[in-house]
Amino acid sequence: MTTAILGTGSYLPENTVSNDELANYMDTSDEWISTRTGIRRRHISKGETLTDMAFFAAQEAMENSGIPAEKLDLIIVATVTADCITPSEACLLQERLGAVNAICFDMNAACSGFLFALNTAHLYLQGGMAEHALVIGAELLSKIMDWGDRSTCVLFGDGAGAVVLGKGEHGIKNVIMGSDGARGKALLCSGRPLENLFIKQEVEFPYVHMEGQEVFRFAVRQVPECIEELLQQASVRVGDIRYFILHQANIRIIQSVAKRLQVDIDKFPINLSECGNTSAASIPILLAALNRDGKLQSGDNVILSGFGGGLTWGAVLIEWQ
Ligand code: COA
Repeated sequence: MTTAILGTGSYLPENTVSNDELANYMDTSDEWISTRTGIRRRHISKGETLTDMAFFAAQEAMENSGIPAEKLDLIIVATVTADCITPSEACLLQERLGAVNAICFDMNAACSGFLFALNTAHLYLQGGMAEHALVIGAELLSKIMDWGDRSTCVLFGDGAGAVVLGKGEHGIKNVIMGSDGARGKALLCSGRPLENLFIKQEVEFPYVHMEGQEVFRFAVRQVPECIEELLQQASVRVGDIRYFILHQANIRIIQSVAKRLQVDIDKFPINLSECGNTSAASIPILLAALNRDGKLQSGDNVILSGFGGGLTWGAVLIEWQ
């Protein structure tokens, strides 16, 4: 027995903002953003909290799986934008769901966060420490964007995606994870400044700062490498993969990965044109859309692959149950 995805769900804020609308607030254009990134619009919260979004995504995943809240014994939320420092987002969500039997914690691996959380939950299930887990990727990135930095703020959006996990004949087969803290400054968002009785640091408000080209180079090298390593580890041929569900950061990164793997781009589902980069939420949002549309068939091999801040990366091979 392995770990199966029993249900999926997602939530996107009601407010959508097109590239043309952004151009009313900053010196940018639909042409610049869409040709460099593939992004046309994103969802930006006008009031939904991270807990709201995670709750709606979780509700759909639980309904889809048929697993009620009291049967969840683990909740992990992957996020860098939790509503509170403490309680964790997972604990806030536990209360809203009434998942009284779950142990709850958050995980920070930026855009790879969902995959790191998925693997952690998998290990809990395989270790016999949980029967059913809820894993969420949720981000309210609009609150950590510098809206005066057009090279970064136009890329990101808000949203949440969720999966319910349980034991199954088919499911997670192989996992590859990696981190390189030495290159972490390429995608940085500082924490609160040190301020106490003895010191007051004069620092700028902690917004996301990104070296776009460095992150781009990292992604186009690291993602295909880790997918190739995963395929080799699993003894599966690239042609046997139904879908490559990549973190939705940039269409040119996805095209480059497809080219390097010599796989038709049609096998790479895309929603970044509508959602932008939602960091830890992007993979489960896309997975939920595919599942909702009936595109995942029993026996399909799918690869999920994420990359981003840390720097971190990962890939997971799943046989759809
Ligand atoms: N609208 C219009 N012009 C913009 C702009 C915007 N939103 N943002 C930047 N520019 C300008 C720059 O000021 C620069 O102008 P200059 O040549 O007069 O100095 C020019 O466009 C080119 O900027 P540059 O940063 O070199 O563009 P780029 O081709 O590298 O594209 C990214 C920038 C961010 C789109 C690209 O580097 C990228 O996608 N990187 C990966 C980022 C990513 O995916 N991160 C998340 C990983 S999880």
